[in-house]
Amino acid sequence: MVQRILIAGASGGLGNTLYQALHKRYEVLGTCFQHSMPHFQTLDLRDFEATNKLLADFQPDLLINTVAWTDVDGCERDLRQAFGLNLETALSIRLAVAAQNCKLIHISTNDLFSGLQSLSNEEDRPEPVNVYARTKYMAEQLFADLPNALILRFTFLSWWTSGKTSFSRWLVQSLQQGQTIKLFKDQYNAPLYVGTLVEWLEQLWHLQGVYHLGSERRSRLDTGLALAQALNLNTDLIEAVSVHDSHLYAPRPLDVSLSSEKLKQATGLSAHFDTEIAKLAAALPADLQPN
Ligand SMILES: NC(=O)c1ccc[n+]([C@@H]2O[C@H](COP(=O)([O-])OP(=O)(O)OC[C@H]3O[C@@H](n4cnc5c(N)ncnc54)[C@H](OP(=O)(O)O)[C@@H]3O)[C@@H](O)[C@H]2O)c1
Repeated sequence: MVQRILIAGASGGLGNTLYQALHKRYEVLGTCFQHSMPHFQTLDLRDFEATNKLLADFQPDLLINTVAWTDVDGCERDLRQAFGLNLETALSIRLAVAAQNCKLIHISTNDLFSGLQSLSNEEDRPEPVNVYARTKYMAEQLFADLPNALILRFTFLSWWTSGKTSFSRWLVQSLQQGQTIKLFKDQYNAPLYVGTLVEWLEQLWHLQGVYHLGSERRSRLDTGLALAQALNLNTDLIEAVSVHDSHLYAPRPLDVSLSSEKLKQATGLSAHFDTEIAKLAAALPADLQPN
């Protein structure tokens, strides 16, 4: 039975959302690193001794690892930092979780795939095209032989703002200010509203192995248009562009949409794009509400 939960990366977008949802019902300890927050324990997870001590002291039944350096261009420019923050942290967790014998949920990404195929499933072979994805895939492999490890791959939509601005927040703020924005018409994923993961979490943590989570395949442009329409924002300000014209530093996979069929078979859970957008729009934070 899960009573005590350790959230590694509780100062980040996903980790903080999970913390807010879980701490009223479970005994939850969150960790932070460079963005210290009240109630959270500051910890550099690259430090195995400190990580192991935290687990030994807190004795979690479940550790949720949301830690990563998600700056795709930053990872490409700084390999040492990318491998340190995405892989060394996972290695500490791997060793500490094995030593303490607790359940692990490791948050991975849909970005692991080459981008040449739609709706990849868990049997499809990841072929990362950039350093961020390579480090995330290598981190997954650290947990491959660990009993009680669940690896979740997905991409999520949220209103997160501290440290970095989420796609949804950037889109809404830009359109509210009358700015033109460019969205990729040829980059696809199957986004999930972060609140859906929160809703599902307790039904997931008995699972083991790799699971894909997502809604339906949509381009970044389709997602932006759908959110703008749901919030009655001016869609004329949205310009369709190609990834090929964007001159981004790190290569980007084009189609990282995931099939969630395995999850549906195992749990009956499934998500639909329109519902995910409606839930995201309904959760528009107060500071983004029109006056
Ligand atoms: N954002 C997305 O759209 C997306 C899509 C697919 C998958 N994911 C995956 O989802 C997870 C969460 O993403 P996110 O957007 O919530 O990331 P985020 O906001 O950047 O949060 C990352 C967290 O990792 C912590 N951290 C970084 N280095 C650390 C270290 N050395 N020791 C301890 N903690 C460290 C950060 O702490 P401080 O901030 O305090 O330094 C922060 O709490 C990641 O695994 C990411 O790969 C994200």
